[in-house]
Amino acid sequence: MDLVVRIFLLVPVLIESRLASAEDFGYDGSIGPTYWGDRYQECRGKHQSPININVLRVKQVALPDISFVGFDDPIDNVHVTNNGHTVLIEVENEPHPRVSGGPLEGNYVFSQMHFHWGDNDTLGSEDKINHRSFPMELHMVFYKEEYKTVKNAVTHADGLTVLAFFYELDRHQHPAYDDITSALGNVTDPHSSVVMKKPFSFLNILPYDLRRYFTYRGSLTTPPCSEVVIWLDFEQPVRLTHDQIEVFRELRSASGKIRHNFRPIQPIGDRTVFYNIDSNYYTYNEIDDPDREPEWPQKRKGRNSASVTSSCITLIIIIEVLIAYVDKIHY
Ligand SMILES: *[C@@H]1O[C@H](CO)[C@@H](O)[C@H](O)[C@H]1NC(C)=O
Ligand SMILES: *[C@@H]1O[C@H](CO)[C@@H](O)[C@H](O)[C@H]1NC(C)=O
Ligand SMILES: [Zn+2]
Repeated sequence: MDLVVRIFLLVPVLIESRLASAEDFGYDGSIGPTYWGDRYQECRGKHQSPININVLRVKQVALPDISFVGFDDPIDNVHVTNNGHTVLIEVENEPHPRVSGGPLEGNYVFSQMHFHWGDNDTLGSEDKINHRSFPMELHMVFYKEEYKTVKNAVTHADGLTVLAFFYELDRHQHPAYDDITSALGNVTDPHSSVVMKKPFSFLNILPYDLRRYFTYRGSLTTPPCSEVVIWLDFEQPVRLTHDQIEVFRELRSASGKIRHNFRPIQPIGDRTVFYNIDSNYYTYNEIDDPDREPEWPQKRKGRNSASVTSSCITLIIIIEVLIAYVDKIHY
């Protein structure tokens, strides 16, 4: 069952060592990212994730639309699990949500989603954009349908796709995340699990713009670091409050609170990062982000002179009213 397959537990050897010791990998000290390669050869590969995305070096493309299937359905019996490294969200409903299109060939079926975060709000994301870190990052993991299982998919170069979403701070709470954060309160202990009380919809926790994204070939960001992932990093972040992110930092591993669980950036090597801008770019941008409208400077100038004129008119009216008032008093 997909439900119990965790990408961390794919190789039988890993399962054994995990049972033998409390942690098979971590983010600090002798089990930290620097040493992952000692036990997991692929972590020293040339096409590892995460990376820094330099927007001046990306190749702009207009890929076919991505199709998101089952993303707006309310899903019951969603499981939230602390696996000692992060919190996993898994579903049992059939068929699972799926994606196709964009840079993908064929269908990819949802496996699990999880989060990466940092000690404070200045860091925590895995990929970076122009060396900027975000306080948290969501990974939605999908395996290629024709490979049937995650375990089999990780033996193929195009076996997985991960949809990555960044988080940004906001003063207002994101209501869709309240259900997640209240579930987190019940899974602070490692290897504990809870079923979400309310139906859960993928779309509700995602940003509005799902058309602009970066895509590149990389790896799992945890051991065994398999280079089998087509990454899609969506540009528009999801906005949460500091308090909503803080709840994640209360989760515990066998060795204490999981204060951070992001892997440092890896060399990009010979890889190209593509930046998808859809054909409706300008219409889209107008709704989404008026500051980026191409004719912005002119419009702004227009608006400014109009407001100067209206201020002048207002001032003249006030002066006239005052004069009239003063006149009245005099009589
Ligand atoms: C955030 O955490 C990092 C890593 O622990 C630390 O180096 C940095 O000083 C912290 N920043 C703030 C503003 O606390
Ligand atoms: C978690 O526990 C709290 C009580 O501490 C409860 O109110 C909440 O509904 C629980 N959440 C889930 C998802 O079970
Ligand atoms: Zn991840």
